Amino acid sequence: MRYGHFDDKQREYVITRPDTPLPWINYLGSQDYFGLISNTAGGYSFYRDARLRRLTRYRYNHAPLDVGGRYIYLRDRDSKEFWSPSWQPTRHAAEHYTCRHGLGYTIIGSTYQGIEAETTYFVPPGQSLEVWRLRLTNRRPKPARLSVFSSVEFCLWEAQDDSTNFQRNFSTGQVEVVDGVIYHKTEYRERRDHFAYFACSEKLAGFDTQREAFLGPYGGWERPAAVVKGRSQNSVAHGWAPIGSHHVRLSLKPGETREIIFLLGYHENPPDQKFDPPDSQTINKRTVGPLIERYLSPAAVAQALTALRAEWDKRLAVLQVRTPDPDTNRMLNIWNAYQNNVTFNMSRSASYFESGIGRGMGFRDSNQDLLGFVHMLPERARERLLDLAATQMESGGAYHQYQPLTKRGNFDVGSNFNDDPLWLIVATSAYVKETSDWEVLDEPVPYDNKPGSEQPLYEHLQRSLRYTLDRLGPHGLPLIGRADWNDCLNLNAFTTTPGESFQTTVNKDGKVAESIFIAGLFALAADELAGLAAARGAKAQAAEYLAAAARMSRVVDEHGWDGQWFLRAYDDAGAKVGSRECAEGQIFIEPQGICIMAGMGLADGRAEQALAAVRERLATPHGVLLQQPAYSRYYLNLGEISSYPPGYKENASVFCHTNPWVMIAEARAGHGDQAHDYYRRINPSAREKLSDVHRCEPYVYAQTIAGRDAATHGEAKNSWLTGTAAWNYVAISQWILGIRAGLHGLEIDPVIPANWDGFEATRRYRGGVYHIRVRNPQHTGHGVKQLTVDGQPVEGASVPVLKGEHEVEVVLG
Ligand code: GLC
Ligand code: GLC
Repeated sequence: MRYGHFDDKQREYVITRPDTPLPWINYLGSQDYFGLISNTAGGYSFYRDARLRRLTRYRYNHAPLDVGGRYIYLRDRDSKEFWSPSWQPTRHAAEHYTCRHGLGYTIIGSTYQGIEAETTYFVPPGQSLEVWRLRLTNRRPKPARLSVFSSVEFCLWEAQDDSTNFQRNFSTGQVEVVDGVIYHKTEYRERRDHFAYFACSEKLAGFDTQREAFLGPYGGWERPAAVVKGRSQNSVAHGWAPIGSHHVRLSLKPGETREIIFLLGYHENPPDQKFDPPDSQTINKRTVGPLIERYLSPAAVAQALTALRAEWDKRLAVLQVRTPDPDTNRMLNIWNAYQNNVTFNMSRSASYFESGIGRGMGFRDSNQDLLGFVHMLPERARERLLDLAATQMESGGAYHQYQPLTKRGNFDVGSNFNDDPLWLIVATSAYVKETSDWEVLDEPVPYDNKPGSEQPLYEHLQRSLRYTLDRLGPHGLPLIGRADWNDCLNLNAFTTTPGESFQTTVNKDGKVAESIFIAGLFALAADELAGLAAARGAKAQAAEYLAAAARMSRVVDEHGWDGQWFLRAYDDAGAKVGSRECAEGQIFIEPQGICIMAGMGLADGRAEQALAAVRERLATPHGVLLQQPAYSRYYLNLGEISSYPPGYKENASVFCHTNPWVMIAEARAGHGDQAHDYYRRINPSAREKLSDVHRCEPYVYAQTIAGRDAATHGEAKNSWLTGTAAWNYVAISQWILGIRAGLHGLEIDPVIPANWDGFEATRRYRGGVYHIRVRNPQHTGHGVKQLTVDGQPVEGASVPVLKGEHEVEVVLG
């Protein structure tokens, strides 16, 4: 069953009924000012950091779902009826409802009793404000007299404090209302230089800024007293809960359309120009006045929307493909690329499942996310790399997370996730391959943001490798630390206290438990660093890293192979994890993916064996499971993984992030059919018809899909902010379609389904535009038999770097 449909031409997903299984959300903003918006206008906004600079409130895990948003109410002044054109919060059944989620904007439209309303929500590129453009049309045969109420609930900036520290916060709220603009200025008089504003293009019939005045005593958002009565209170908030609500009265002739613009924005004043007059406590509004005026004009709004579309055209144009599979095309050309931009901005901070409070930018997360956006945002990828590297420590270890506003490592979570540093190598290498910006490697970067500790980025990468080599366990495999990629395989925690964090509790000395996953990742990263070293002329170093990778592969051969697949780990007692000797958790997906990606087992048949075991034991129609059999009870020696009920999260769900690793492994083994089959199993667009099972948005990847041990097999959770986005993009574009940036040019080495006749792609790369045509005349699906550029044969599978437009033809066979 479907709740809408794709409109590929407009690059939109069109939701046609409001009661989606979960709020289906979209993101606004792409630089500093951001918002989440659901298909019924729920969500919130923030400036840079969802925890430290939250503009508006949202109630997570609330009943009813999805409360707190950008709500507009309409009231018929003759019949006294009122409703929300975005369905929530009044939930009147509209005659017609659509929500179009597009790239950086959302348009919610509905018709109720002949009044058509369409609101376009977006952030103008480069601005720290959001526009709500409301268009009202009277489809009745007679004139309509209407009231329009806007509403937002302000957050008192720090989202965690805002939702807990009531003894203080009920007394601090402050606003100003001047010329119809509502200014939220809590704490502006002392240490904050920023305020929020909420403006409207029309003359007001009234306003409200105190929640209780607007909603009425004990009132809720579904029936605000001001809307019921058709009258605002002109309330001014002193403490309690500051809100913003404008009231506009208008009359519409039959067929008439009116446009009303609301702006919600964030503004900072220079500290010495905060007040006007200077010796007062009144906000200096002269610095923001012209901006407000500008965006209250329909022409400026229309122009900004055009600029937004142009920005997305440019980003997406870097890679466009035409394959025989529409779900591949749609995801790669539009939605997966878009999701990669969102993970770039949000890492794991703010979604419907991430509260914006708990986690900031993850070190391993953002490094992996970079693989999916580096070609679209090279300059910002560079900045991200340097920010990440600055949270590395002198030991080579890294803070697991950092706060986006301060860019400082998060102390509460700390370090010692032993895979973390290696991802920095993988990300940097991808960046250099895309851009050929070799200078980045010489960029001085501090350790732990300490001035004076700067070393070239290249040295950071070397320390990353050394960090693993300095921490080898009894078998010569890397020690796992608090956890490796699987945050929930906590082999040094042994926790029995309820509520204790599995990731930060460590009560073993950490000298025994080892990770085969890190061994695979190490070999992969050492190989990448060797490539960079060789290209820089550091031959001896390159040889050293290749030798280290080869040594690690030998250790895996000896101690990391279980007979038919790669082992997962050794626990604190030196016992195997992910082995046929185990009662549960006999085979894990992660080492099968990463070890084969690093080239292990490809020459001696073990890769084939491991992949066959994955097919047999882990593959389901809904994707490939993380491990089997699921843990049916809590294992003290394994940690959080066994705390989840079987089939959920790390305990044997389809943890989607890992699936593309197996796709890449299948591609490396030459199995295009199998790789693409796995790709389709979790492709959200291919799963659209299962929307009532899948439940999350059909246009973006989710972190997990419940596994076959779960009662709700096939149900997705934690959509949007997941490494799944970047990795699926990498798997399909770089390994299945086989178009990947190399150190010395664009490599094209497809491993596609045998029955495809071929595909076409356009790739912009280092200043050139390549129109690629791949033909598969013998239906082998792989093996480059012939490669020509502008009709001239080229040796190997790599296209040289060329300026201008070029025709590339690849014949497989
Ligand atoms: C979450 C985390 C990620 C981790 C994964 C597996 O997605 O953000 O860092 O690798 O879970 O536990
Ligand atoms: C939980 C999740 C895991 C995530 C971790 C981050 O353990 O299961 O996916 O990475 O929290 O703290």
